[in-house]
Amino acid sequence: EQNMPKEGGVDHTLDLLNEGYYFILNRKNKFDSRVLETRLLGEKAICLVGKQEAELFYNEDYFTRVEAAPNRVKKTLLGEGGVQGLDGEEHRHRKAMFMNLMTKDSLDEISRLTREEWDHAIEANTQEELNVYDEAKRVLTRVALRWTGVPFKDEDVDQWASELGDMFEKASKVGPKHWKSRRSRSKVEDWIEDLIKDVRDDAIQVEQSRALYVFSNHRDLEGKFLDKHVAAVEIINLLRPIVAIAVFIDFVALSIQQFPEEAKKLKAGSAEDLQNYTQEVRRYFPFFPAAIARVKKNFTWQGYDFKENTLTLLDLYGTNQDPDLWHFPDNFTPKRFKEWQGSPFDFIPQGGGEFDIGHRCAGEWITIEIMKETLDYFINQISYKFPQQDLSYSMNDIPALPKSRVKIKHVEKIK
Ligand code: HEM
Repeated sequence: EQNMPKEGGVDHTLDLLNEGYYFILNRKNKFDSRVLETRLLGEKAICLVGKQEAELFYNEDYFTRVEAAPNRVKKTLLGEGGVQGLDGEEHRHRKAMFMNLMTKDSLDEISRLTREEWDHAIEANTQEELNVYDEAKRVLTRVALRWTGVPFKDEDVDQWASELGDMFEKASKVGPKHWKSRRSRSKVEDWIEDLIKDVRDDAIQVEQSRALYVFSNHRDLEGKFLDKHVAAVEIINLLRPIVAIAVFIDFVALSIQQFPEEAKKLKAGSAEDLQNYTQEVRRYFPFFPAAIARVKKNFTWQGYDFKENTLTLLDLYGTNQDPDLWHFPDNFTPKRFKEWQGSPFDFIPQGGGEFDIGHRCAGEWITIEIMKETLDYFINQISYKFPQQDLSYSMNDIPALPKSRVKIKHVEKIK
């Protein structure tokens, strides 16, 4: 047995806010260890980085999600009672409700909707400059509402986009932004709860294949409907992250500006080229910093003691940048994915492990489809220029976004 490298001090929550995506990596380097202990949010916290470490983290014999997420994250990003905080049979049953939506037809549809909504946005655009992030949020809000079957009016789309955006843009903030994020969540939860009631009462008609219908009528392991609030949280678990793909889309646009040689290869490139480029965007740029769990029972791993109930963070960004796993991780090299073996534990921008039995992101395939469709659109369907702007982004902000949000000008459809 050995002692886990341990950072002194009372609490490092402020350092986490200051160091952002580098918080765990900085400590990994300082202690030269992939397993280390610090203190966060007033308690002891273990940090893990790497492939074997991810494999450990996703072993459900050793880690639990029950009561793992901090309260402030539940009040903003996640909501209360959703799939993220469940374990075992209950988790599997609820997760299946999500994964059953991810059929080939349904993914094809979401690609189609994405293209349609980009066309719609570009045709309607009258501005000289277009802000890719804001436009992507609007496009994706429409895609998300249509795909889930949530009825909406055109004039309400901006409000939906702004409130769903608050949930992930401001979730890691403190003060007024934090409270704005909470208020937006409550408001959207109320709207969706009313809709679920209407679906259950047959007061509105929704196609039976749509998530709004499926989740409203989902039965738990005891054969009961989900609590209305929980069903709303789960619908928002579809809407919010679909809109959040705007962050990756902004990085897609940034990559086209920063790596024009790589982007050029996609002109009339193959489907595989689009796929590899999309994967490299998800690996190279920061988005979701870390996954959170608690130690389920005392155990020893590689000589280190893990004590029951200890908060544990797996560094997603750090693992995607790990020089032991990725050759020259600081280089943007889409073709590296030609050789990638497809391990569920080394490339984990949306979590690792299995979809059905673990907590890996339910929307990873949707994310990839929407990004590929948008990438192809930005390379092969429209022409534009990048005006002078500040494209730098700070690794201390979560989510990190280019300062100017990536603007493009003289946007025109090709042909
Ligand atoms: C879980 C990232 C998009 C639905 C997660 C997790 C991460 C993540 C890191 C947690 C993994 C863990 O705790 O082990 C992302 C990123 C996205 C994205 C970066 C890009 C925008 C989506 C989309 C959807 C979605 C589009 C749905 C349409 C979910 C759900 C869970 C989840 C339901 C909970 C899974 C569970 O607890 O079993 N996501 N996600 N996500 N994501 Fe995503």
